[in-house]
Amino acid sequence: MLVAAGGFLWATTTAESKLAAEYETHHFGMAIPWPLSPEEVEALGEHEGGAADEAALERALERGRHLVSARYGCSECHGADFGGGVMIDDPAMGRLFGPNLTLGEGSVTRDFTATDWDRTVRHGVRRDGRPSLMPCEDFFAMSDRELSDLVSFIRSLPPVDRTMPGSSLGPVGKVMVATGKFRLSATLLADHDAPHALEAPPPAVTPEFGAHLAQVCSGCHRQGFEGGPIAQGPPDWAPATNLTPHEEGLAGYTFEQFEKVMREGTKPNGEHVAAPMTVVTPYAARMTDTEMQALWLFISTLEPRPTGR
Ligand code: HEC
Ligand code: HEC
Repeated sequence: MLVAAGGFLWATTTAESKLAAEYETHHFGMAIPWPLSPEEVEALGEHEGGAADEAALERALERGRHLVSARYGCSECHGADFGGGVMIDDPAMGRLFGPNLTLGEGSVTRDFTATDWDRTVRHGVRRDGRPSLMPCEDFFAMSDRELSDLVSFIRSLPPVDRTMPGSSLGPVGKVMVATGKFRLSATLLADHDAPHALEAPPPAVTPEFGAHLAQVCSGCHRQGFEGGPIAQGPPDWAPATNLTPHEEGLAGYTFEQFEKVMREGTKPNGEHVAAPMTVVTPYAARMTDTEMQALWLFISTLEPRPTGR
């Protein structure tokens, strides 16, 4: 009894000190919306003042819409309307809510600067310098232009009036943070000063573009894509498949089989994929053919590796 109480006290203080740590990140600027290049302005030909800004905004919105519908699942936790949503609501684990990102009543992002967006999304650090509970390691490799496009799109959404409660960890959540089972994203980024890529590799069927797309898979399928039990997930999640061309992984898979798993969630043996891969397939269904092929090119040419333990 005493031991359990002592352990819990340890977990609470350890988790609290981890959550109270302060992180310095770089100050960061980016244009929102992302401007046209000089060549693109030239390609507009004779144009009225303001037309280049309008064209830039239109393009940013189109790209941002694609990013949130096919690539980055912000709405899984921030709600389909981006007005706030639930990540976990469990008294033991914690109550983690994605706050309202629109400009309505209850918005937390209304006066966000580029630095604030950068910190939150690509560093896991809140505005006040403390670590965020948002798992964002999948977004670390997002380019400046993608972040700018996302922000343009989110700001253009209809304002939603909704105030989400603050997030807090329950007893089990605190133990998981204290013991390092749930790793705060801010602790996973080795260098909070490192510059980000200005632009993603150009969208084409190349291993470089495929590698960029595959960043969002590595949170579950691991950095080396060897799969295995998912470190950050609850125990009932299926282990992530080994995505390398190893006999324990995707050796023998064809592009057609890969595309069917990704877009429809149907495996070659006819079964439906298990959770949490089920979260991914509705997004992947909206990837362009170029994205799907680039992803496959990258994955199918990985070094074969045995499955992670
Ligand atoms: C797995 C769930 C999840 C996903 C996916 C997610 N978020 Fe979050 N987000 C959260 C939670 C939980 C919080 C609250 C964190 C806290 O209070 O420490 C949060 C907070 C935020 C905040 C507010 C930070 C602040 O200082 O108040 C912003 C901005 C944000 N998220 C943007 C995004 C964007 C953009 C995406 C997509 C690229 C995204 N989130 C994807 C769960 C998520
Ligand atoms: C939230 C965690 C998660 C993310 C993110 C994720 N996966 Fe998965 N994936 C899984 C799990 C778990 C399985 C195993 C599902 C099963 O056993 O049915 C899986 C299975 C697969 C399979 C194999 C299905 C089969 O035939 O057995 C492929 C292919 C795959 N994922 C590709 C991807 C790609 C590509 C991405 C990134 C775009 C991705 N996954 C992102 C968790 C994830």
